[in-house]
Amino acid sequence: MRITITGATSLPGLSLLDVLLREGHEVRCIVRAESPNRARLGGRNVEVVSGDATDEASLARALDGVNALAHVAGVEFAPQVVAGMRRAGVERLLVFSSTSVHSRYEFRSGPKHRGEEAVQESNLAWTIVRPTMIYGSELDKNIHRLLRFLDRSPLYPVFGDGKNLWQPVYHEDLARGALSALISTGTVGRAYDLPGADPLTYRDLVLTAAEALGRKVRLVRVPLEPACRALRLAEDLRLPLPVKSEQVLRLREDKAYPYEDAKRDLGYSPRAFTEGVKLEAARLREIGLVRA
Ligand SMILES: NC(=O)c1ccc[n+]([C@@H]2O[C@H](COP(=O)([O-])OP(=O)(O)OC[C@H]3O[C@@H](n4cnc5c(N)ncnc54)[C@H](OP(=O)(O)O)[C@@H]3O)[C@@H](O)[C@H]2O)c1
Repeated sequence: MRITITGATSLPGLSLLDVLLREGHEVRCIVRAESPNRARLGGRNVEVVSGDATDEASLARALDGVNALAHVAGVEFAPQVVAGMRRAGVERLLVFSSTSVHSRYEFRSGPKHRGEEAVQESNLAWTIVRPTMIYGSELDKNIHRLLRFLDRSPLYPVFGDGKNLWQPVYHEDLARGALSALISTGTVGRAYDLPGADPLTYRDLVLTAAEALGRKVRLVRVPLEPACRALRLAEDLRLPLPVKSEQVLRLREDKAYPYEDAKRDLGYSPRAFTEGVKLEAARLREIGLVRA
């Protein structure tokens, strides 16, 4: 297939790109002119179109002559992307959304819902995939920071009781699931949650990450409500913070998701966090981001 991909410079985008190339597809990437991440595509046999996924002219160039669009850059841009596909006459659309669409917090779920609605109402041949937290390399947003912190600190602050559930997905498992969602028959008009193998508590996630590094860590419980109040105050004062109050609030919510549909339709079989985080620790060690 000839496939255009948005968001190819992100971790999930790069992983999907690599799996598409390995499977022999021809790939065109739409990358913003000002992207500081363009070099990440280096060494790959891809066509790069400079442009913005929200811009009509860019989409027309990027979609000319392709069979499908893999839209990784953000479901929030779905209305513009859908309109661009209609104009270009491209029917097949794979969209990355997020399991945060299931969140009870509107600030998390609302934008994803609205984006997904634009896709679902589009009459295109769409499939939506919803990753949980993505991890596996220095390009991830959370676990690599956790590993680097644990590499340096014998103490780790856990907000609340740490019993809330997480189910992060290893980037390569997600990429294989997404490819399968794009090419398998019977996936049109369906949305698939793509989490890691099993949920684990936040405490266990931190302890497992420390073990992957070969470090010992002591968890220090930080009461949730006072921490949120302090963070909100600091935000009002516009102080730079490593974590937002809304992120801490969301720690009260379990992020565990069944994936029977993905198993059945996509042959989805993600690895356990214990296994994936060891791979990530090895990667960070190799590039010198954590100690040997
Ligand atoms: N990270 C996670 O743990 C996670 C979890 C669940 C779902 N997701 C979903 O996975 C996707 C990627 O997430 P991410 O966290 O990896 O995001 P990210 O790091 O912010 O990357 C976004 C990607 O989209 C590109 N992009 C952004 N705006 C664009 C525009 N207007 N036109 C063209 N390209 C644009 C960025 O390119 P530049 O190189 O120009 O920045 C980058 O490649 C999103 O759909 C997100 O909702 C992520």
